[in-house]
Amino acid sequence: MRTVLGPFAPFPIRQWGRQLFGLPTAEQDVAARAAIMQAAVPYAIQITHHYLTCWIPGAPASLRGIRILELGPGRDFTPALILAGYGADVTLADLYLERWDPHYHPAFYRAVRDEVRRSRPEWPLDALDEVIARGDHWAGPIRTLRRSLERLSGIPDDSFDLTISNAVFEHLYDVPQALRELYRVTRPGGIGIHQIDYRDHNNYSRPLEFLTLPRYKLGRDREATRRGNRFRHHEFADMFRSAGFEIAELHPDAEADPEYLADVLPRLAPPYSAMSLGQLKPLGCRFHLSGQRKSPV
Ligand SMILES: C[S@@+](CC[C@H](N)C(=O)[O-])C[C@H]1O[C@@H](n2cnc3c(N)ncnc32)[C@H](O)[C@@H]1O
Repeated sequence: MRTVLGPFAPFPIRQWGRQLFGLPTAEQDVAARAAIMQAAVPYAIQITHHYLTCWIPGAPASLRGIRILELGPGRDFTPALILAGYGADVTLADLYLERWDPHYHPAFYRAVRDEVRRSRPEWPLDALDEVIARGDHWAGPIRTLRRSLERLSGIPDDSFDLTISNAVFEHLYDVPQALRELYRVTRPGGIGIHQIDYRDHNNYSRPLEFLTLPRYKLGRDREATRRGNRFRHHEFADMFRSAGFEIAELHPDAEADPEYLADVLPRLAPPYSAMSLGQLKPLGCRFHLSGQRKSPV
């Protein structure tokens, strides 16, 4: 972020100006980026590894030529770039599609590249290399769309064999509408693999706290959905079925601990106060969906 002193003041005065305005100094900026990168590279490798080993059936052999829609990739397009390297035709859609940040992405993608070479030498790097060479990740080996799942306008029906996402559906502002769109763009027999995190994103150690609020406004803006849309596991399962999907597999991966549940249960607001313990406990799950029927119930 620039101060009003902008580029006209000599460097030490700019540093002093930044401190005066409560902004990080250039050194703090560099340190913060390095710290983000240190955490982001292993995370990128981990998510890609999950996609390739236990999420996408038959991967990597099954990837050649399949049409994939990844929703909400966030700041890092590494998983999509590796899938594209294996020959998949990948589209990314994100309501807040991340721009290429020249102070972050070149160094980040180069660090990912080094780590892949070191620890996953079998992963294809062609698409990642192309993005590094282009200095842009909005075009080239993958297609990118700045669009919400609720409004995938311009994408024809039955466009994808596979849809995939990690930690996105809890941020949707209109889940039934988004799932209708998901169903529309999935080809008959296509599949969806979506990991959902049901926790209150304000404080993961008190994961149901937002269910105690009597009023909770959801909106299309980033802040309104940042904390999570509060839908519980069984509600997502019902909404997937209502949109027309069959749930082929469920992989629950976290539950609220009994001590915290005892604390929060008496404080829950309606409709959560009427839900059963079994409905409230799940904190995360990966859904494997099938678009086999292709006719909404
Ligand atoms: C918590 S981040 C997850 C990022 C990434 N998938 C990961 O595993 O780290 C949620 C992502 O969903 C995107 N998102 C939020 N609401 C969305 C919507 N309605 N439609 C599409 N993407 C959305 C956000 O912009 C963000 O990139």
